[in-house]
Amino acid sequence: MIETARQVLRNNDRGFYTVPTKGLYPFQWNWDSALSALGFAHFDEPRAWTEIDTLFAHQWDDGMVPHIIFHQRDEGYYPGPDVWDTGREVPTSGITQPPVAGFAVRRIFDRAQDKTLAAERARALLPRIHAWHQWFFRCRDPQHSGLVAIIHPWESGRDNSVDWDDAFQRVPTDGVLPFNRRDTSHADPAHRPTDEQYKRYIWLVQRFRGLGWDNAALHDASPFQVVDPGFNAILIRSCADLAALAEELGEPRIAAESRAMAERGIAAMETLWSAARGQYLCLDRSIGRLIDSPSVGGLLAAFAPLPPGRVAALARRIGSLAEHCRYLVPSHDPTTPEFDSLRYWRGPVWLVVNYMIADGLEQAGQVELAGRIKADSLRLIRQSGFAEYYDPNTAEPCGGGQFTWTAAMVIEMLETHAGAGDAPA
Ligand code: GLC
Repeated sequence: MIETARQVLRNNDRGFYTVPTKGLYPFQWNWDSALSALGFAHFDEPRAWTEIDTLFAHQWDDGMVPHIIFHQRDEGYYPGPDVWDTGREVPTSGITQPPVAGFAVRRIFDRAQDKTLAAERARALLPRIHAWHQWFFRCRDPQHSGLVAIIHPWESGRDNSVDWDDAFQRVPTDGVLPFNRRDTSHADPAHRPTDEQYKRYIWLVQRFRGLGWDNAALHDASPFQVVDPGFNAILIRSCADLAALAEELGEPRIAAESRAMAERGIAAMETLWSAARGQYLCLDRSIGRLIDSPSVGGLLAAFAPLPPGRVAALARRIGSLAEHCRYLVPSHDPTTPEFDSLRYWRGPVWLVVNYMIADGLEQAGQVELAGRIKADSLRLIRQSGFAEYYDPNTAEPCGGGQFTWTAAMVIEMLETHAGAGDAPA
């Protein structure tokens, strides 16, 4: 299975970056790259570092790292560079994605066989990743709450989650230029966002473009400002990991600043806790209210170094979901009417999410549940191959096939946790 997974990575390798999958996603995606590098690191360390280096070579001057880098032209994708119009030499999108690179770099560094190479590459990446983290708190937390907002659902990485539905109603659709979606020609339209949702996605892009992609203005100008616990957990974890790495590499200033951001974030996460749901929820910042949508975003919070009592509560919550589906972890609570086992981020399982939740649980000593999540992940692969995502009841493979980060997670899980309840097939 490891060899097949490596083959998927090689097939999607474009030399200095990987595409998530051919056809549906023909460019470099931000968090896909960071997580995919973890897979490469097990058999080609220089290639793993290159993946992350390329991502940061396209960092904006203000510190933002864009969600897509359009390395070459491909008419099969919408919205392409002309729609974003960010004015970059190598075109990029104008929004960001979950900042998991800090975590990935520390992990690759810690495990590296080639310590000299690792120190050199990590040292060069350190200030860049730190600048990205600082950008978040500067531009996406203008009131200094300790948590950052996303201003477009695509930033969350959980593009079509139920979490965004209500807040998204405030995004208008007037003035949206006519467009031709391409995603529905690569994947089943019944599993993809509706046209109505797509118009709102594009409205936001047009709005930000109209403001010249000036990040000092975008947050306040966006009718969509949501504080996602999963996203913030990833940021907090990356800040904490960067602090540890900076310490080791003799960069005390970065270490102290990173630790301070992580600590403030951890304290602020309490404002997203829902006792009624037994998990974290998103906050609709525009109206100052929690969004009562029990999605995996609130469970992914386990990835951050939260107080053990909170992680234990999340473990109980995930355990209770297991009674309502066959494969953990569904992207939405299966007992709610909004749950849809096949539609994008409204029910299906993603391996990257499983990996991060399992890792957080493990760090907090919840080893048994972490093992169950990894075993479920590998059962999905064995049954249905390296798909983009899976139905949590039938294991039906959905979205794109031969998916890079799915393969990378399999390598990670098997190489680092073989024997944790599931031997390679
Ligand atoms: C979809 C996913 C996003 C991912 C991208 C490429 O847009 O929602 O999380 O980064 O595909 O795989």
